Amino acid sequence: MRHVLSSSQFDRQFLDYLYQLTTTIRRFDKSREGIVYLRSLLPHKRAMLYFTQPSTRTFLSFQSACHILGITASEIRDAATSSERKGESVEDSLRTFSSYVDLIIMRSPIAGLCDRVATLLDATPRPVPIVNAGSGPDEHPTQALLDIYTLTRSLRLRGGIDGKTICMVGDLKRGRTVRSLSRLLTNYEDVKIIFASPENFRIEDDLRRALTRAGTRFEETDEFLPAIASADAIYMTRIQDEYDVGGESATDYTRFHLKASHLTSLKEDCVIMHPLPRRDELDPEIDKDPRAKYWRQERNGMWVRVAVLTMLFDVDSRVQLPDL
Ligand code: CP
Repeated sequence: MRHVLSSSQFDRQFLDYLYQLTTTIRRFDKSREGIVYLRSLLPHKRAMLYFTQPSTRTFLSFQSACHILGITASEIRDAATSSERKGESVEDSLRTFSSYVDLIIMRSPIAGLCDRVATLLDATPRPVPIVNAGSGPDEHPTQALLDIYTLTRSLRLRGGIDGKTICMVGDLKRGRTVRSLSRLLTNYEDVKIIFASPENFRIEDDLRRALTRAGTRFEETDEFLPAIASADAIYMTRIQDEYDVGGESATDYTRFHLKASHLTSLKEDCVIMHPLPRRDELDPEIDKDPRAKYWRQERNGMWVRVAVLTMLFDVDSRVQLPDL
C-alpha cells in the first residue's frame, strides 16, 4: 500500500488482513508492555495532519494513532495560518510538507485533491504517502474501513457481512462516507444496499454504475419505515449542508429521522451505525439500546487507523506476536 486515496483500492483479502491486524493491535494495547512495544515501532517517523475542513474524530483518531505508534505529528487546521494565505498554491504547500515529514494525512473540501497531490509527489525525489481523511463530498476511505470493521465485529455471530441488507439513510448524494462505504461493500457476497433518502438526496450516477458493475444489489427508496424494518444494519447520516449551493438543505428531512419509537420496528439484532457527528436524524435516546454501535464505531476508527499506518510504513509484520 503506497497511498490511501479511495475505498476502491481495497479488496477482500486486504480487508480480512487489516481487520485481523487491527484486532491484534488492540490486544497489544491491553498491557503496559504492549503499549510500549507499539510506541517503539515508528518513533523515527513524522506525520503532517493537514485538515482544512472541520473534524473532531478523524483528526483526533489519526493523531492518537500516530501517538500510539510513536510517530511525531504536526498539524495545520486552517489554510489561513499557512502560506496559502500569501497566495501559495495548495499543491506547493503540500509539496513543502513533504520536505519535512514522512506521511501526509489530509482532509480537504476539494474532491480529487488527494489523488492530484499523490501523483504530484510521486514524481518528486521525496514521494511521501498521502492518506485521504475526507475529500469534499467525494471519498472518506478510512471511515469506510472502520465502518466495515464495526460491521464485521457486530455481525460476527451471524455469519459476517455476506448476505446482509444494509440500509443507508440521509444525504446520499453528498455524503462521502456513504459513497466510500458502498464501494467497500462490493467486496462482500450477496449484500443488498437500500438507499433511503428524499428524492433530491439520492446517490449519484457514478456510484450506481460502480455497484452495477460489481454486481452488488441495491434499491433506492423514499419509504423510510419499510427500509429500516428489513435491514440487518442501518447507517444513518446527516444532511451535508456545507455543500449547499442553492438551499438544498431546506428539504424536510424529518421523516428520515431515526427515533426511539422506531426501535420496536427494527430487527432484534439490527446494527445501528452513524459516522457522526449527528444532528436531529438520530435520537440520543437510542444510545442506550444495545443495537447502537456508533460510539464503538468511532473508537474502532482509531485502531483501524493504527493498523493502516503500520501497513503504510511496512511494520505490520512486527505486530503479529500471538501473546504478550
Ligand atoms: N466521521 C467523521 O469524519 O467525523 P469528523 O468530521 O468529526 O472527523
